[in-house]
This record gives sequence, C-alpha cells and structure tokens, in this order.
Amino acid sequence: MLNNKITELLQIQYPIIQAPMAGGLTTSKLVAGVSNSGGLGSIGAGYMTPVQMREQIREIKQLTSNFFGINLFIPNEFNISQDQINSANQILQPIREQLGLHRNDNLEIPEFNNVFEVFNEQIKTVIEERVPVCSFTFGIPSREVIRELKKHNIILMGTATTVREAIENEKAGMDIVVVQGSEAGGHRGSFISEDQENLIGLMSLIPQVVDNVSIPVAAAGGIMDGRGLMASISLGAKGVQMGTAFLTCAESGANEIFKEEILHAHEDQTVLTRSFSGKWARGIKNKFISEMKQVESIFPDYPVQNTLTKEIRNTSSSLENRNFMSLWAGQSPRLAKKHSVNSLMKKIIKEAKKINNSN
Ligand SMILES: Cc1cc2nc3c(=O)[nH]c(=O)nc-3n(C[C@H](O)[C@H](O)[C@H](O)COP(=O)(O)O)c2cc1C
Repeated sequence: MLNNKITELLQIQYPIIQAPMAGGLTTSKLVAGVSNSGGLGSIGAGYMTPVQMREQIREIKQLTSNFFGINLFIPNEFNISQDQINSANQILQPIREQLGLHRNDNLEIPEFNNVFEVFNEQIKTVIEERVPVCSFTFGIPSREVIRELKKHNIILMGTATTVREAIENEKAGMDIVVVQGSEAGGHRGSFISEDQENLIGLMSLIPQVVDNVSIPVAAAGGIMDGRGLMASISLGAKGVQMGTAFLTCAESGANEIFKEEILHAHEDQTVLTRSFSGKWARGIKNKFISEMKQVESIFPDYPVQNTLTKEIRNTSSSLENRNFMSLWAGQSPRLAKKHSVNSLMKKIIKEAKKINNSN
C-alpha cells in the first residue's frame, strides 16, 4: 500500500519526507532520525554556507547510511533601493529599541550581489559530498545545474503551488514534485505568481496536479498524521512532506518557546505575512506580524527584508520573547505532539495501516 514510485526513487520504506526547514531547525539528529525510521530526512540548507553544508552532510553520514535530502533556495532577481532599505529600517527601529539593539544603518546594497554565486557554490557542495537527494524551493534551477546534478545521479525534487508550476517542474526534469497547499507552514515556494489572494488548498491542488503531470507528487501542507498521509494518497499523491509535525519532536532544532507556541496554537492562529522576509510565509500570529500588517507591502523583497529583520528575529528568539520571532507553522497545530522522531513515524504508519485495513 505504501510502496510506490516515491519510495522506490528515494529508497525509503515509507513515503514520508521530513520537510527541509532552513534556519537551524533540521538538526543532524532530526534528519538522520527520520531516515533511520524509514522516511526521508532533509536538511534545510537555504541559509547555509557551503562549509556549514559540508559539515552537516558529513555529520549525518555518521548517523545514517540511508538516503537523505538537502534543500536549496533558488535565487531570484529582486528589486532593491537604498531608500526602501532606509524606510524599512525606520519602521523596524522601535522594535530594535524594545530589544535593546543598536540602529541598523550600515546595510549596503552590494551585500546582496553574490546570491547567485553562493547558490552555485552550494550546488558544487551537494555534488562533491554526494548527497543522494536535492530539493528546491522558490523556483527551478537552470538547465546546466539540472544536467550536472543528474550526471551525478542525484534525485531532484521541485516545489509547486499551482498546476502550472508543477508542469514547469516536470518539464525541467525534476523526478518528484512537492505540491504545497495554502495550509503549509513557512515560506510559499511559489515562483510564477506570488499573489497571496488565490492560494490553493491541498485538497484541490493534489488531484489537479496529478491529472496534469506524470512525475510522482508529494503533498505538503497541514499533514500531521496517518489520516493526512492516506487522504493525500487517496487524492493521487504518492507521498507527503511534513514540516510542523516534525518541529515539535525532541530532535528538532526549534527552541522550547517555538515548540510550546505550536503545541498551544489553534487552527485559526496562523497567518500569512511578508514582514519578516519580504516573501509570503505562514506562521503563528504575534506582535511583530500584527504591528507590521499595515506596512508590509512597502517592505523590500526577499532576501533584503530577511536580512533587515535577522537581528530582531535572532535576539527575540534568544531572549525567549515570542513577540518578534518568526514562528513558522502550518494550519494543523492542534495535531502537534511532543514525540521522538521514531515514535512519530511509528504512529503515522500505524494509523495509515489501520485506515487501509478498514477500507
Ligand atoms: C519552520 C519551517 C521552515 C520551512 N523551511 C523550508 C525550507 O527551507 N525549504 C522548503 O522547501 N520548505 C520549507 N518549509 C515548507 C515545508 O517544505 C512544507 O511546505 C510545510 O512544512 C508543509 O506544511 P506543514 O508545516 O503544515 O507540514 C518550511 C516550513 C516550516 C514550518
């Protein structure tokens, strides 16, 4: 029942992918724990330097001999002006003061010129370290990059939030496409349209994508247990990618306050915001999101805004102050539990088998 094209391609026992979650959340113990429990663990390497990537890849290889994945952000062209940076800094200043941070005046445009170079270095590292699976969000890599990765037999996974994006992923040569519904926690992987007014829920998205591509589909967004896995499979997906469910595991890199926020959140408390990073993302509503709501449209694009708020997010997190942290989470927080990775994986499989047997 759970063996299919995805388990075959990813060489895993169960079609469960732990979502790559950038920002120190996907610890080596989490990634290896998932891979050792029959799923695919994934490193969220979007913000990592090649050196950091290499270190973590090697650490994971000490902990598991199974397949695992790594995820990169496709760099996009973005608009940037010193004036926009100055006005964003002006708006953020009162928050910096509340956190005891100095003024942030010295951010210069050239700092952002090397995002494309960094991406190429990241790809080189994936190849040199022979990571078995590489996934992408925010776009599709160039033909040359895809050709190079395929030459080294690396399995490729893309992200899509619409049928059109899924078709583009298939055309580009991706082996698997992760379809991300509006329920999903964290950043939207959209790359054709970033309009947030017509977001598609997973129940609508899966069958429409499945009807239009022939590569296997993994479903992402609000899936926390065996019910979500089996529902996705019923709709035509071959597997699932789960983020929030793994964040509250003992092995995740989320700090206690982040875990507690998820464990106590309700389904109507996550919202979309672009104020933290300049890209739309779903997280638990807090003071920062509420206060910035009126001005979020004037903030600079990703990655500029992400850099402008970095110190605020990090300081808030280390002070265990929920008000200014990015508490990324999907729409099913009531289903989150404190687990070990292994017990979460076992629970999902047990539930899935029970559903299968009762049909
Ligand atoms: C904290 C957090 C960080 C995330 N970071 C990434 C990332 O770096 N790359 C990526 O492709 N997706 C990222 N995602 C999105 C996931 O891939 C996936 O779409 C999402 O977790 C599914 O919704 P769920 O959280 O309700 O399971 C992130 C999600 C969360 C919750």
